[in-house]
Amino acid sequence: MSQIEAAKSGEVREGALHVVHVGGHSVALTRVGGRVQAFVNKCPHLGMPLSKGKIEGGAVTCPFHGSKFDICSGRNMDWVKTLLGMPLPGWAQNALAMGKKPAGLKTLSASERDGAVFLEV
Ligand code: FES
Repeated sequence: MSQIEAAKSGEVREGALHVVHVGGHSVALTRVGGRVQAFVNKCPHLGMPLSKGKIEGGAVTCPFHGSKFDICSGRNMDWVKTLLGMPLPGWAQNALAMGKKPAGLKTLSASERDGAVFLEV
């Protein structure tokens, strides 16, 4: 494992996602309770980017089908609930899930020093 400088501290804000590219991956950075958090910017449902997702209460919601994840742990909280923000009935949620079982986000270890954010890769 090594540490890579990914962003300046001031670029990473609470309630917003700052996307960087590290080791060939798109990574989303944000703050929860002031602490920097990082996760691979790829929804585990269909691999769509989460960078336009809604951030609220330490969770990110996928803008495509409404799956929701705890940003700190990556834990799945909701799985395929909407289509582009429109609520779906249960049968449609199951159809849209396309057999994919609920899965969590891939999180990365992040730290800060000297005004910069570092990721463990
Ligand atoms: S791509 Fe994110 S919930 Fe479907």
